[in-house]
Amino acid sequence: MNRPVKVGIIGAGFAGAFHLRSYRQVYGVPVEVVAIAGKTKIRAEKLAKTYNVPNYYDDYRYIIDDKSIDVVDLVVPNALHLPMVLEAARAGKHIICEKPLTGYFGRKEPDDEVGTTPKREMLVKVREDLKLVRKVMAENPVKFCYADNWIYAPAFKKALELMEKCFVSGSILEIRGDESHSGSHAEYAKYWKHAGGGAMARLAAHPIAAGLFLKQYEGEKKYGKPVTAKEVWADTVDLTRTEAFKHAKNSPLGTGWKDVETWSQLTITFTDGTRGIFFGADDLLGGMESEIEIRMTNCRLKFRLCLVRDCQFYIVDPAPVEDVYFNEKQETRAGLSFPNPDEEWTLGYPHEIQDFMEAIAYNRAPLTGLELAMQLVEVLYAGYVSCEEGRKISLE
Ligand SMILES: NC(=O)c1ccc[n+]([C@@H]2O[C@H](COP(=O)([O-])OP(=O)(O)OC[C@H]3O[C@@H](n4cnc5c(N)ncnc54)[C@H](O)[C@@H]3O)[C@@H](O)[C@H]2O)c1
Repeated sequence: MNRPVKVGIIGAGFAGAFHLRSYRQVYGVPVEVVAIAGKTKIRAEKLAKTYNVPNYYDDYRYIIDDKSIDVVDLVVPNALHLPMVLEAARAGKHIICEKPLTGYFGRKEPDDEVGTTPKREMLVKVREDLKLVRKVMAENPVKFCYADNWIYAPAFKKALELMEKCFVSGSILEIRGDESHSGSHAEYAKYWKHAGGGAMARLAAHPIAAGLFLKQYEGEKKYGKPVTAKEVWADTVDLTRTEAFKHAKNSPLGTGWKDVETWSQLTITFTDGTRGIFFGADDLLGGMESEIEIRMTNCRLKFRLCLVRDCQFYIVDPAPVEDVYFNEKQETRAGLSFPNPDEEWTLGYPHEIQDFMEAIAYNRAPLTGLELAMQLVEVLYAGYVSCEEGRKISLE
């Protein structure tokens, strides 16, 4: 490409804002964010003015129809990913899609009951949708960039460098990953209809994608073909509906969940017999934790993407620092804490956008693409089937 990559962002919320900040950090590839669309013009306008985006809309179709736009960046609620991916691909636009690529969002069920749909039915529908995505992407050769920041985080990249060396004589036996915090800021996350699931689809989706990526990477390096997920078993619950929670008073944990789980565990058996165990939960106070441990036959790696301890701070009365950002989902600034000097950097947001812009400008594949996004969705929904049927679910 000998002109700037032109980007249109759809979604003007939390993720839209950190994507915008990441575009400002791209180097070596000229990039222009030319438009942003929200559900309402007010939110789109606010972000556009803050980040100097010339056009803002209350209808995303202006972005799809704008022939000058090369890339559509989807930072909308999960239920909108699939239809917008299909529309963008058919319009010949490259796509950046936030996690997860898609899910089950209901057909005719009342809003609050989508989460009670038999999970087998969900898996069947999700598989049909994935087939359609594959077909549409094959007919429209645009790039699909899957925005899973974990795989771009500097700590993850360092671990990959070390593991690649260790693959000479060693193998990954087990991966343990967890993303937890005290509950989503987004109201839509409380409804299966909008989010396509609870803590598993929203939080565990990150460590699961990281685990799938690592075993795929290991397989390709060592055997020339990916090691993939073979079997899944899982457990989920809404902990705010337990007896224990009913008796609790003044908990700062998020409440008001409609038909989604707030705690999840999913175990994968990979095709080489090794295991990955992943957690996603809304029961953690003190700020978001995103961590992973990789146990190999010849080494061990463990790292955190957030709640890093580069900076230490102690205060009794936090009033003077109330408007200072510390860490995602940290409830209080009182006492001892570790404000992250650059959380978006440690989480890998600028790095993923950098890779996507290079992939588009130089016509190469992004590190995280369609295959990973699709495999994750299938694993998540096989996980939900496993919860309902109380047994391991085969993916073969
Ligand atoms: N990678 C990460 O760490 C991470 C973190 C947060 C969110 N996300 C993902 O980002 C996506 C958005 O989440 P969020 O936290 O920003 O939610 P949010 O509620 O803060 O923002 C969603 C935005 O989408 C807009 N929107 C809704 N319907 C729309 C429509 N029809 N057309 C245009 N805009 C519309 C809303 O107006 C809102 O501005 C989700 O898929 C979520 O999974 C990823």
